[in-house]
Amino acid sequence: MSVVGASPAVGLFCVPRSPPSNIPRFRMAVRSSAVSVAPILTKLKHECATPLPLLRHVADAMAADMRAGLAVDGGSDLKMILSYVDSLPTGNEKGLFYALDLGGTNFRVLRVQLGGKEERVIDTEFEQVSIPQELMFGTSEDLFDFIASGLDKFAQKEGEKFYLPPGRKREIGFTFSFPVRQTSIDSGILIKWTKGFAVSGTAGRDVVACLNEAMERQRLDMRVSALVNDTVGTLAGARYWDDDVMVAVILGTGTNACYVERTDTIAKLQGHDSSSGRTIINTEWGAFSNGLPLTVFDSDMDDASINPGEQIFEKTISGMYLGEIVRRVLLKIAEAGAFGDSIPEKLSTPFVLRTPDISAMQQDNSDDLKAVGSILYDITGVESNLSARKIVVEVCDTVVKRGGRLAGAGIVGILQKMEEDSQGLIFGKRTVVAMDGGLYEHYPQYRRYLQDAVTELLGLEISKNVIIEHSKDGSGIGAALLAAANSKYEHDF
Ligand code: BGC
Repeated sequence: MSVVGASPAVGLFCVPRSPPSNIPRFRMAVRSSAVSVAPILTKLKHECATPLPLLRHVADAMAADMRAGLAVDGGSDLKMILSYVDSLPTGNEKGLFYALDLGGTNFRVLRVQLGGKEERVIDTEFEQVSIPQELMFGTSEDLFDFIASGLDKFAQKEGEKFYLPPGRKREIGFTFSFPVRQTSIDSGILIKWTKGFAVSGTAGRDVVACLNEAMERQRLDMRVSALVNDTVGTLAGARYWDDDVMVAVILGTGTNACYVERTDTIAKLQGHDSSSGRTIINTEWGAFSNGLPLTVFDSDMDDASINPGEQIFEKTISGMYLGEIVRRVLLKIAEAGAFGDSIPEKLSTPFVLRTPDISAMQQDNSDDLKAVGSILYDITGVESNLSARKIVVEVCDTVVKRGGRLAGAGIVGILQKMEEDSQGLIFGKRTVVAMDGGLYEHYPQYRRYLQDAVTELLGLEISKNVIIEHSKDGSGIGAALLAAANSKYEHDF
């Protein structure tokens, strides 16, 4: 399916629902059984609680893990990857550039005509293509062939609004949103897949080479000038409009953060000079795990995942997993007999309940929680009365509150580390955190919990200086801007 000009964020914070549609629906009489549910709920709330001291511990541990990861490769859970992006867009960038974004259940292609300081973004066009699920488990060639062919089709539709001087190749900023050990601005080795991808033959390889080979097979004459993580693209895109942007965070299917670091604080930086004295570090914070409040539902989900023991922060706070954690809790409640005598088969299907579904349930303000009832029935087969619906909303809220607050603590950890190294330059002035991703965009309660945690941790005064701002779709333009900055051709910007 190809969506032209649609929002890329839609669908990005979930995995596709995969149960067969012909699963029989078992009717379940729902008794209001507060007695059997209460202990489960109480325990869940207790174990998911994120009081201020716990948040403080998480923020401190995040800052400490950042330092350890900057000292030496493998120094902590956080990989603290060098992005090779040492200068951010200035606004002077000019010309036609492409961006290709692979990071979740969709990939996006974009072209932009940049017009420098005066005209900025003259024109932009994009297409979004959903990735067939079998390709997420197939071979590297199949996945990259699919992407290159999508890019080819899109490039062929380039109209006259876009202009490239004769004799030049079209240049691409390639946003690849998985952990990559960058070897230069336009090359990098895939460390591992995340977010449910299990494509064979890519880990350990240069992903730009994989794309180049696929483009050659398509006879597509384009060149990758910059390979960037989505966080780095978002930071570059947001910085194009606002000089105070220092951090970028993605909260979508997966999660990650990057920030502007002083090169003199990076002990592991050897032989990499940065004329600006600054570079962007991709933290890969999804792998963080220190001091997180976890439940048996988290550990069971982790055990059943394709990457057990990995990406624990991501599994606690990101869109791919929140719905699944809720489903596991609801199953437990159903097994305790609290919802009736039988358990609908659908409720036992992993990942059937997606984060957009729990978000939709939490937006139901009606007295009888009618929407909660119908979403629950349609998706899990559970028939519910009002008290059962209230319990379900409480479960969603507990899991989402933990996620949002922990994400907020992670952000504070990064800001804290930056402030420690540059007293007053972060908390003493306006500092912007650019946010993107469907979870952040489409889940108001999550957003509020995140902001609350930041405010609680920093206090009212300092938190006034920290602006958490949605930077919608910034990563595509950001990648194109970085392609411009790293173009092999002479430009007058
Ligand atoms: C990946 C990161 C990415 C993040 C958000 C994580 O699973 O490891 O590289 O930035 O998802 O897309």
